[in-house]
Amino acid sequence: MRTNLQRTMAVKTGKDLVTIESLSKKEIEYLLEMTAEFEAHPNRRILAGKVVATLFFEPSTRTRLSFETAAVRLGARIIGFNDPKVTSATKGETLNDTIQIVSNYADVIVMRHYLEGAATYASEVSRRPIINAGDGANQHPSQTMLDLYSILKTQGHLDGLNIYMVGDLKYGRTVHSLLMALRYYGCHFHFIAPKVLQMPEEYKLFCRENNISFTETSEFNESEIADADIIYMTRVQKERFTDLMEYEQVKNIYVLRRSMLRRAKKTMKILHPLPRVTEIAPDVDNDQHAYYFQQAQNGLYTREALICHSLGITLEQVRNDKTIIS
Ligand code: CP
Repeated sequence: MRTNLQRTMAVKTGKDLVTIESLSKKEIEYLLEMTAEFEAHPNRRILAGKVVATLFFEPSTRTRLSFETAAVRLGARIIGFNDPKVTSATKGETLNDTIQIVSNYADVIVMRHYLEGAATYASEVSRRPIINAGDGANQHPSQTMLDLYSILKTQGHLDGLNIYMVGDLKYGRTVHSLLMALRYYGCHFHFIAPKVLQMPEEYKLFCRENNISFTETSEFNESEIADADIIYMTRVQKERFTDLMEYEQVKNIYVLRRSMLRRAKKTMKILHPLPRVTEIAPDVDNDQHAYYFQQAQNGLYTREALICHSLGITLEQVRNDKTIIS
Protein backbone atom coordinates (compact mmCIF):
# COMPACT_ATOMS: atom_id res chain seq x y z
CA MET A 1 0.00 0.00 0.00
CA ARG A 2 1.33 3.49 -0.90
CA THR A 3 1.58 6.06 1.87
CA ASN A 4 0.48 9.68 1.55
CA LEU A 5 4.11 10.71 1.31
CA GLN A 6 4.72 8.28 -1.55
CA ARG A 7 1.65 9.63 -3.29
CA THR A 8 2.85 13.21 -2.76
CA MET A 9 6.14 12.31 -4.37
CA ALA A 10 4.53 10.49 -7.29
CA VAL A 11 5.22 11.83 -10.78
CA LYS A 12 2.47 13.97 -12.24
CA THR A 13 0.25 12.38 -14.84
CA GLY A 14 -1.03 14.53 -17.72
CA LYS A 15 -0.16 18.00 -19.01
CA ASP A 16 -0.57 21.41 -17.38
CA LEU A 17 -1.81 24.47 -19.23
CA VAL A 18 -0.60 27.39 -17.16
CA THR A 19 0.72 29.95 -19.62
CA ILE A 20 0.15 30.41 -23.32
CA GLU A 21 3.89 30.88 -23.97
CA SER A 22 4.41 27.25 -23.07
CA LEU A 23 2.61 26.23 -26.29
CA SER A 24 4.53 26.00 -29.56
CA LYS A 25 2.89 26.95 -32.85
CA LYS A 26 2.53 23.24 -33.60
CA GLU A 27 0.82 22.59 -30.25
CA ILE A 28 -1.56 25.52 -30.73
CA GLU A 29 -2.58 24.25 -34.16
CA TYR A 30 -2.91 20.70 -32.83
CA LEU A 31 -5.30 21.94 -30.13
CA LEU A 32 -7.26 23.98 -32.67
CA GLU A 33 -7.68 20.84 -34.78
CA MET A 34 -8.85 18.93 -31.74
CA THR A 35 -11.32 21.73 -30.97
CA ALA A 36 -12.80 21.39 -34.46
CA GLU A 37 -13.31 17.65 -33.81
CA PHE A 38 -15.25 18.49 -30.67
CA GLU A 39 -17.31 21.12 -32.42
CA ALA A 40 -18.34 18.46 -34.96
CA HIS A 41 -19.23 16.00 -32.16
CA PRO A 42 -19.49 17.69 -28.74
CA ASN A 43 -21.33 14.84 -26.98
CA ARG A 44 -19.28 11.74 -26.21
CA ARG A 45 -18.33 9.38 -23.38
CA ILE A 46 -14.58 9.73 -23.92
CA LEU A 47 -14.10 10.91 -20.28
CA ALA A 48 -16.40 8.34 -18.65
CA GLY A 49 -15.07 7.52 -15.17
CA LYS A 50 -12.96 10.71 -14.92
CA VAL A 51 -13.41 13.45 -12.32
CA VAL A 52 -12.75 17.10 -13.18
CA ALA A 53 -12.27 19.57 -10.30
CA THR A 54 -13.17 23.22 -10.85
CA LEU A 55 -11.69 25.44 -8.14
CA PHE A 56 -12.83 29.03 -8.61
CA PHE A 57 -11.34 31.44 -6.09
CA GLU A 58 -12.71 34.32 -8.22
CA PRO A 59 -16.13 34.86 -9.83
CA SER A 60 -16.83 33.44 -13.28
CA THR A 61 -19.78 32.65 -15.50
CA ARG A 62 -18.43 31.46 -18.87
CA THR A 63 -15.16 29.86 -17.93
CA ARG A 64 -16.50 27.74 -15.10
CA LEU A 65 -19.75 26.79 -16.78
CA SER A 66 -18.11 25.95 -20.11
CA PHE A 67 -15.43 23.82 -18.42
CA GLU A 68 -18.12 22.04 -16.42
CA THR A 69 -20.34 21.61 -19.46
CA ALA A 70 -17.36 20.30 -21.42
CA ALA A 71 -16.66 17.71 -18.71
CA VAL A 72 -20.31 16.64 -18.45
CA ARG A 73 -20.80 16.42 -22.23
CA LEU A 74 -17.79 14.10 -22.41
CA GLY A 75 -19.06 11.82 -19.63
CA ALA A 76 -16.89 13.05 -16.72
CA ARG A 77 -18.13 14.11 -13.30
CA ILE A 78 -17.38 17.40 -11.57
CA ILE A 79 -16.33 18.41 -8.08
CA GLY A 80 -15.32 21.84 -6.89
CA PHE A 81 -16.44 25.23 -5.69
CA ASN A 82 -17.26 28.63 -7.12
CA ASP A 83 -16.92 30.54 -3.88
CA PRO A 84 -13.80 30.12 -1.72
CA LYS A 85 -15.79 31.34 1.32
CA VAL A 86 -17.38 27.89 1.53
CA THR A 87 -13.99 26.13 1.66
CA SER A 88 -11.37 25.61 4.35
CA ALA A 89 -9.32 28.42 2.80
CA THR A 90 -11.39 30.61 5.17
CA LYS A 91 -9.86 28.65 8.08
CA GLY A 92 -6.37 29.37 6.80
CA GLU A 93 -5.74 26.33 4.62
CA THR A 94 -2.97 27.08 2.13
CA LEU A 95 -3.21 26.73 -1.62
CA ASN A 96 -0.61 23.97 -1.43
CA ASP A 97 -2.75 21.94 0.95
CA THR A 98 -5.93 22.54 -1.05
CA ILE A 99 -4.22 21.32 -4.22
CA GLN A 100 -2.74 18.28 -2.44
CA ILE A 101 -6.18 17.31 -1.22
CA VAL A 102 -7.98 17.83 -4.51
CA SER A 103 -5.21 15.85 -6.26
CA ASN A 104 -6.41 12.91 -4.19
CA TYR A 105 -9.88 13.14 -5.67
CA ALA A 106 -9.76 14.48 -9.22
CA ASP A 107 -7.97 13.57 -12.47
CA VAL A 108 -7.53 17.18 -13.60
CA ILE A 109 -7.84 20.53 -11.79
CA VAL A 110 -9.20 23.66 -13.45
CA MET A 111 -8.38 26.66 -11.26
CA ARG A 112 -9.10 30.38 -11.29
CA HIS A 113 -7.28 32.44 -8.68
CA TYR A 114 -6.99 36.13 -7.91
CA LEU A 115 -3.21 35.97 -7.44
CA GLU A 116 -0.86 36.25 -10.41
CA GLY A 117 1.35 33.18 -10.46
CA ALA A 118 -1.08 31.03 -8.44
CA ALA A 119 -1.53 28.63 -11.38
CA THR A 120 2.21 28.20 -11.81
CA TYR A 121 2.54 27.49 -8.12
CA ALA A 122 -0.36 25.01 -8.19
CA SER A 123 1.20 23.21 -11.17
CA GLU A 124 4.44 22.84 -9.23
CA VAL A 125 2.80 21.20 -6.23
CA SER A 126 -0.01 19.26 -7.93
CA ARG A 127 0.10 15.60 -8.90
CA ARG A 128 -2.71 16.25 -11.35
CA PRO A 129 -2.63 18.48 -14.41
CA ILE A 130 -3.57 22.09 -13.74
CA ILE A 131 -5.50 24.15 -16.27
CA ASN A 132 -5.20 27.85 -15.53
CA ALA A 133 -8.67 29.41 -15.78
CA GLY A 134 -7.22 32.89 -15.08
CA ASP A 135 -4.68 34.07 -12.50
CA GLY A 136 -5.06 37.70 -11.49
CA ALA A 137 -4.13 40.11 -14.29
CA ASN A 138 -1.62 37.60 -15.60
CA GLN A 139 -2.93 34.94 -18.03
CA HIS A 140 -6.07 33.22 -19.23
CA PRO A 141 -4.80 30.60 -21.67
CA SER A 142 -8.04 28.67 -22.22
CA GLN A 143 -9.69 31.97 -23.20
CA THR A 144 -6.85 32.52 -25.64
CA MET A 145 -7.37 29.14 -27.26
CA LEU A 146 -11.06 29.91 -27.78
CA ASP A 147 -10.16 33.37 -29.08
CA LEU A 148 -7.74 31.83 -31.58
CA TYR A 149 -10.37 29.31 -32.61
CA SER A 150 -12.89 32.13 -33.10
CA ILE A 151 -10.44 34.14 -35.19
CA LEU A 152 -9.57 31.09 -37.28
CA LYS A 153 -13.23 30.26 -37.85
CA THR A 154 -14.19 33.78 -38.88
CA GLN A 155 -11.11 34.78 -40.87
CA GLY A 156 -10.12 31.37 -42.28
CA HIS A 157 -6.52 31.82 -41.08
CA LEU A 158 -4.47 33.54 -38.39
CA ASP A 159 -1.76 35.12 -40.53
CA GLY A 160 -1.06 38.82 -40.93
CA LEU A 161 -4.31 40.09 -39.43
CA ASN A 162 -4.96 43.63 -38.20
CA ILE A 163 -5.94 43.11 -34.58
CA TYR A 164 -7.34 46.03 -32.60
CA MET A 165 -7.27 45.61 -28.82
CA VAL A 166 -9.44 48.17 -27.09
CA GLY A 167 -10.04 49.24 -23.50
CA ASP A 168 -8.27 47.93 -20.43
CA LEU A 169 -4.98 46.67 -21.84
CA LYS A 170 -3.26 47.05 -18.48
CA TYR A 171 -5.27 44.64 -16.36
CA GLY A 172 -6.99 42.62 -19.11
CA ARG A 173 -5.26 39.23 -18.93
CA THR A 174 -7.00 38.00 -22.09
CA VAL A 175 -5.25 40.54 -24.31
CA HIS A 176 -1.88 39.66 -22.79
CA SER A 177 -2.34 35.96 -23.53
CA LEU A 178 -3.75 36.56 -27.02
CA LEU A 179 -0.89 38.83 -27.98
CA MET A 180 1.61 36.17 -26.95
CA ALA A 181 -0.18 33.37 -28.79
CA LEU A 182 -0.34 35.37 -32.01
CA ARG A 183 3.41 35.96 -32.05
CA TYR A 184 3.74 33.13 -34.58
CA TYR A 185 1.41 34.68 -37.16
CA GLY A 186 2.79 38.08 -38.19
CA CYS A 187 -0.27 40.02 -37.06
CA HIS A 188 -0.22 43.79 -36.68
CA PHE A 189 -1.59 45.06 -33.36
CA HIS A 190 -3.31 48.35 -32.60
CA PHE A 191 -3.47 49.08 -28.89
CA ILE A 192 -6.28 51.52 -28.10
CA ALA A 193 -6.39 52.52 -24.44
CA PRO A 194 -6.42 55.59 -22.21
CA LYS A 195 -3.04 56.46 -20.77
CA VAL A 196 -3.69 54.80 -17.40
CA LEU A 197 -4.74 51.52 -19.04
CA GLN A 198 -2.09 51.22 -21.73
CA MET A 199 -0.52 47.90 -22.64
CA PRO A 200 2.15 47.27 -19.95
CA GLU A 201 5.77 47.82 -20.92
CA GLU A 202 6.64 44.14 -20.48
CA TYR A 203 4.21 43.17 -23.27
CA LYS A 204 5.49 45.91 -25.55
CA LEU A 205 8.98 44.60 -24.89
CA PHE A 206 7.70 41.13 -25.78
CA CYS A 207 6.45 42.57 -29.09
CA ARG A 208 9.80 44.18 -29.85
CA GLU A 209 11.71 41.01 -28.98
CA ASN A 210 9.42 38.92 -31.19
CA ASN A 211 9.27 41.36 -34.13
CA ILE A 212 5.57 41.98 -33.57
CA SER A 213 4.50 45.32 -35.02
CA PHE A 214 2.18 47.50 -33.01
CA THR A 215 0.83 51.02 -32.80
CA GLU A 216 -0.63 52.78 -29.77
CA THR A 217 -3.29 55.42 -29.51
CA SER A 218 -6.04 56.62 -27.21
CA GLU A 219 -8.30 57.55 -30.17
CA PHE A 220 -11.29 55.27 -30.66
CA ASN A 221 -13.49 56.28 -33.56
CA GLU A 222 -14.92 55.11 -36.88
CA SER A 223 -11.89 55.94 -39.00
CA GLU A 224 -9.41 54.56 -36.45
CA ILE A 225 -10.97 51.08 -36.63
CA ALA A 226 -11.89 50.96 -40.35
CA ASP A 227 -8.94 48.73 -41.24
CA ALA A 228 -9.54 46.10 -38.53
CA ASP A 229 -9.94 42.38 -39.17
CA ILE A 230 -10.66 41.81 -35.48
CA ILE A 231 -11.74 44.33 -32.87
CA TYR A 232 -11.11 42.81 -29.46
CA MET A 233 -13.07 44.84 -26.91
CA THR A 234 -12.34 44.54 -23.19
CA ARG A 235 -14.06 45.53 -19.97
CA VAL A 236 -12.36 47.96 -17.61
CA GLN A 237 -11.41 45.60 -14.78
CA LYS A 238 -12.81 47.38 -11.73
CA GLU A 239 -11.67 44.59 -9.39
CA ARG A 240 -7.99 45.21 -10.17
CA PHE A 241 -7.89 48.95 -9.41
CA THR A 242 -6.33 50.02 -6.13
CA ASP A 243 -7.68 53.57 -6.61
CA LEU A 244 -11.44 53.54 -7.32
CA MET A 245 -11.36 57.24 -8.26
CA GLU A 246 -9.10 56.27 -11.14
CA TYR A 247 -11.62 53.59 -12.15
CA GLU A 248 -14.45 56.13 -12.13
CA GLN A 249 -12.51 58.35 -14.52
CA VAL A 250 -12.05 55.63 -17.16
CA LYS A 251 -14.91 53.18 -16.65
CA ASN A 252 -16.98 54.44 -19.59
CA ILE A 253 -14.16 55.78 -21.69
CA TYR A 254 -14.89 53.74 -24.83
CA VAL A 255 -18.24 52.56 -26.13
CA LEU A 256 -18.42 50.71 -29.44
CA ARG A 257 -21.66 51.70 -31.19
CA ARG A 258 -23.19 50.35 -34.36
CA SER A 259 -22.79 53.73 -36.04
CA MET A 260 -19.00 53.32 -35.75
CA LEU A 261 -19.05 50.23 -37.99
CA ARG A 262 -20.14 51.88 -41.24
CA ARG A 263 -16.62 51.75 -42.71
CA ALA A 264 -15.67 48.37 -41.28
CA LYS A 265 -14.45 45.55 -43.53
CA LYS A 266 -17.21 43.08 -44.39
CA THR A 267 -15.29 40.24 -42.77
CA MET A 268 -14.37 42.15 -39.61
CA LYS A 269 -15.54 40.51 -36.38
CA ILE A 270 -15.94 41.96 -32.91
CA LEU A 271 -14.72 39.75 -30.08
CA HIS A 272 -15.00 40.28 -26.34
CA PRO A 273 -14.08 37.77 -23.64
CA LEU A 274 -17.16 38.99 -21.71
CA PRO A 275 -18.67 39.96 -19.37
CA ARG A 276 -19.30 43.34 -20.95
CA VAL A 277 -20.51 46.33 -19.03
CA THR A 278 -20.92 49.46 -21.18
CA GLU A 279 -18.11 49.07 -23.73
CA ILE A 280 -20.27 47.50 -26.45
CA ALA A 281 -23.65 49.17 -26.94
CA PRO A 282 -26.58 46.72 -27.20
CA ASP A 283 -27.30 47.96 -30.75
CA VAL A 284 -24.15 46.14 -31.90
CA ASP A 285 -25.45 42.73 -30.80
CA ASN A 286 -27.47 42.15 -33.97
CA ASP A 287 -24.88 43.57 -36.31
CA GLN A 288 -23.17 41.18 -38.74
CA HIS A 289 -19.82 42.03 -37.17
CA ALA A 290 -20.76 40.95 -33.65
CA TYR A 291 -19.29 37.57 -32.77
CA TYR A 292 -18.89 37.61 -28.96
CA PHE A 293 -21.74 35.26 -28.13
CA GLN A 294 -20.58 32.66 -30.68
CA GLN A 295 -17.07 33.19 -29.32
CA ALA A 296 -18.30 32.11 -25.88
CA GLN A 297 -19.94 29.07 -27.44
CA ASN A 298 -16.60 28.14 -29.03
CA GLY A 299 -15.31 28.02 -25.46
CA LEU A 300 -17.20 24.78 -24.89
CA TYR A 301 -15.46 22.93 -27.75
CA THR A 302 -12.11 24.46 -26.87
CA ARG A 303 -12.39 23.35 -23.26
CA GLU A 304 -13.42 19.86 -24.27
CA ALA A 305 -10.15 19.70 -26.22
CA LEU A 306 -8.12 21.19 -23.34
CA ILE A 307 -9.46 18.77 -20.73
CA CYS A 308 -8.78 15.79 -23.01
CA HIS A 309 -5.31 17.07 -23.88
CA SER A 310 -4.48 17.59 -20.21
CA LEU A 311 -5.39 13.95 -19.59
CA GLY A 312 -3.11 12.71 -22.37
CA ILE A 313 -5.86 11.95 -24.89
CA THR A 314 -4.51 12.50 -28.41
CA LEU A 315 -6.07 14.00 -31.53
CA GLU A 316 -5.90 10.56 -33.13
CA GLN A 317 -7.83 9.07 -30.21
CA VAL A 318 -10.44 11.82 -30.51
CA ARG A 319 -10.75 11.17 -34.26
CA ASN A 320 -11.11 7.41 -33.69
CA ASP A 321 -13.40 7.81 -30.71
CA LYS A 322 -16.34 5.37 -30.83
CA THR A 323 -18.20 6.93 -27.89
CA ILE A 324 -19.88 9.73 -29.87
CA ILE A 325 -23.51 10.34 -28.96
CA SER A 326 -25.50 11.74 -31.85
N1 CP B 1 -14.28 35.37 -20.28
C1 CP B 1 -14.33 35.03 -18.99
O1 CP B 1 -13.32 34.66 -18.38
O2 CP B 1 -15.57 35.11 -18.45
P1 CP B 1 -15.94 34.71 -16.96
O3 CP B 1 -15.20 35.64 -16.05
O4 CP B 1 -17.42 34.83 -16.87
O5 CP B 1 -15.47 33.29 -16.76
